[in-house]
Amino acid sequence: MQLNSQIKQIQPPPITEVKSWIAERRFPLDKPLVDLCQAVPSYPPPPELIEHLQNSLADPLTFKYSPDEGLPEVRAEVCRWYQRYYQTAPSPDQLCLTIGASQAFWLAMICLCRPEDEVIIQLPAYFDHLMGLESLGIKPVYAPFDAANGGQPNLETIGKLISNKTRLILLVTPSNPTGAVIPPKQLDAFFELAQENNITLVLDETYNAFIGEQPHQLFNRADWTDNFVHIASFGKTFALTGLRSGALITGADVIAQALKVQDSMVVCQSRPAQLALAFGCKNLDGWVTANAKKMRQRHDDFKEQFLAAGVAFEFVASGSFFAWIKHPWRDLTGRQAAKKLADSGNLICLPGEAFGPGLEPYLRLAFGNIQKEQIPQAIARFRNI
Ligand SMILES: Cc1ncc(COP(=O)(O)O)c(C=O)c1O
Repeated sequence: MQLNSQIKQIQPPPITEVKSWIAERRFPLDKPLVDLCQAVPSYPPPPELIEHLQNSLADPLTFKYSPDEGLPEVRAEVCRWYQRYYQTAPSPDQLCLTIGASQAFWLAMICLCRPEDEVIIQLPAYFDHLMGLESLGIKPVYAPFDAANGGQPNLETIGKLISNKTRLILLVTPSNPTGAVIPPKQLDAFFELAQENNITLVLDETYNAFIGEQPHQLFNRADWTDNFVHIASFGKTFALTGLRSGALITGADVIAQALKVQDSMVVCQSRPAQLALAFGCKNLDGWVTANAKKMRQRHDDFKEQFLAAGVAFEFVASGSFFAWIKHPWRDLTGRQAAKKLADSGNLICLPGEAFGPGLEPYLRLAFGNIQKEQIPQAIARFRNI
């Protein structure tokens, strides 16, 4: 079959690739597999959410389409959640519920860019963003990774990358894969940079609920809708990754355009996902806060134990569900280093180069995936390898 050559040249999905290395293997009881590949909460949603969904199955409406942008009562509930977490809320016509943050990202890119346009993207970048941009023929312009500042984007560096082809600046906070949280003042500065250059700041805030404080005040600005797009994922917040629940949040005029794409792409977020989302927003603040605290503690434990372990791997940056480390093998790529850890250490993680060019010395560890009790044995796999 004649395929789109643009798609053929894209790297395979990194998690699928790494998992294929161990697909045929069996692991001994004294050295089971440690999976630090994927960023998913290690806990299920709470029983009351599961019961709520079970009850909803008796209603035939549950199995029907909803409006493209999502049910009005669900969007209103999401806005109330924003009011509590961000102290200001978008209005329901400023949000479209999507099939995860992933689809919100596609809506944003399709609505804002044409092929050949440029997107400034901070390295290391979330691999699905890179794959999405390549699929759409949009040109990524990379802001280099600076290990010395833990992967924070630099305003001056990014300012210099803006050209007349730039459509937007894409940032992720907390970052996947470094965990770096961009301070609110910096986000204000990036918004103003976008504003001055008549481009858009697109912020993927998939892990916002895990920061433990108000992520920023951008929604407070009277003019936020002119230059700001917010991408949300409720999969991580409410442990619903498999239900696929996210949102695109921006000006109502952009949402109206996005709905043309939404209709032809997926029609709507599935109703069960919407019902779970509304339930979560309405009832689970305490549960979310407790889990976010637990995850921050897990991060602190992981970091402390990794640093104390005296391993040859350098702990470069970390936060939310992730640690970004440098492997000790100068002659190996990240892919080869990750394969070596899988083969000899029975541990899987992602190679640095999945997060952009030039990142072969690094590996991403997603410890959100493992329980607190598993941390010592996970870290032990980095010894004597
Ligand atoms: C930064 C970032 N954006 C988006 C996503 C995808 O989120 P969703 O499952 O809501 O599509 C992830 C998932 O790991 C992520 O880390």
